[in-house]
Amino acid sequence: TDRYAVFGNPIGHSKSPFIHRSFAAQFDDDMSYEAVEAPQDGFRSRLDQFISEGGRGINITVPFKTDAFAAADERCEGAALTGASNCLKFENGRIIAENFDGVGLLRDIADNLGQAVSGKRVLFLGAGGATRGAALPILRAGAAQVVVANRTVAKAQAIADELTRFGEIRATGYDSLSAGHDIVLNATSASLFDTRPQVADAVFEGTGLAYDLVYAKGLTGFLRQAQGMGVPVLADGVGMLVEQAAEAYAWWREQRPDTAALIRDLTVPLV
Ligand code: ATR
Repeated sequence: TDRYAVFGNPIGHSKSPFIHRSFAAQFDDDMSYEAVEAPQDGFRSRLDQFISEGGRGINITVPFKTDAFAAADERCEGAALTGASNCLKFENGRIIAENFDGVGLLRDIADNLGQAVSGKRVLFLGAGGATRGAALPILRAGAAQVVVANRTVAKAQAIADELTRFGEIRATGYDSLSAGHDIVLNATSASLFDTRPQVADAVFEGTGLAYDLVYAKGLTGFLRQAQGMGVPVLADGVGMLVEQAAEAYAWWREQRPDTAALIRDLTVPLV
């Protein structure tokens, strides 16, 4: 049996064990997947223990994504770009780091929600790790333009500067935003605090998809605002959650699971 795990603190609410066990069942794959609550200041030693016990890979959630990045001997692009890792694999005594959150988001938008990204104008609200990881896959998918808006404009500018060689990307504050965004993503942590980014209603004029990256928070303030402006497609991060897991599974196990049924099972209605 090949051992995998998710590391976090706290870890009780993680859906990752359920998701990965469901994937394994699809293939009759002889793997196990557990939840590990590492001590706040003890990620590395708990990781070393898991590797010495024969562990093959882990997922990483709050607060250890930067510790996971630091522990790596080798960093793939998604991790290198974000300075954070949500997925490690252990191969020939080496720790390899990736970060599939951005690719998971793109997959959900393009494949599950059926919203082509090519040629679209995409607005990210927020300039934390989530935007840092997702902006490049969105540019690579052929977005006509990416705008990163943040309360702290300097953080948005840093992301735009870093990615400008990949396509049309610019930074701004919330105040200067107006209409003209086909896809609007809430990549701030505001929904976790039951608030929303303070953008004008007009920002959603003509928008086809409003996507809040949080999971199971129902109709967040952001989605409610978009709904009020008549945005036809509203989504939360359940699909992103399952798709990043499928990317991880494929990276570890060399077969990509089906995600549709699982996303249906995990969907919490947007009310
Ligand atoms: P993560 O790495 O998980 O994305 P982060 O780096 O702490 O988290 O980033 C959180 C993002 O949410 C930031 O863009 C933050 O804005 P600032 O950089 O201006 O602080 C944004 N954010 C958090 N609470 C917010 C709120 N109430 N309104 C708007 N933006 C908020």
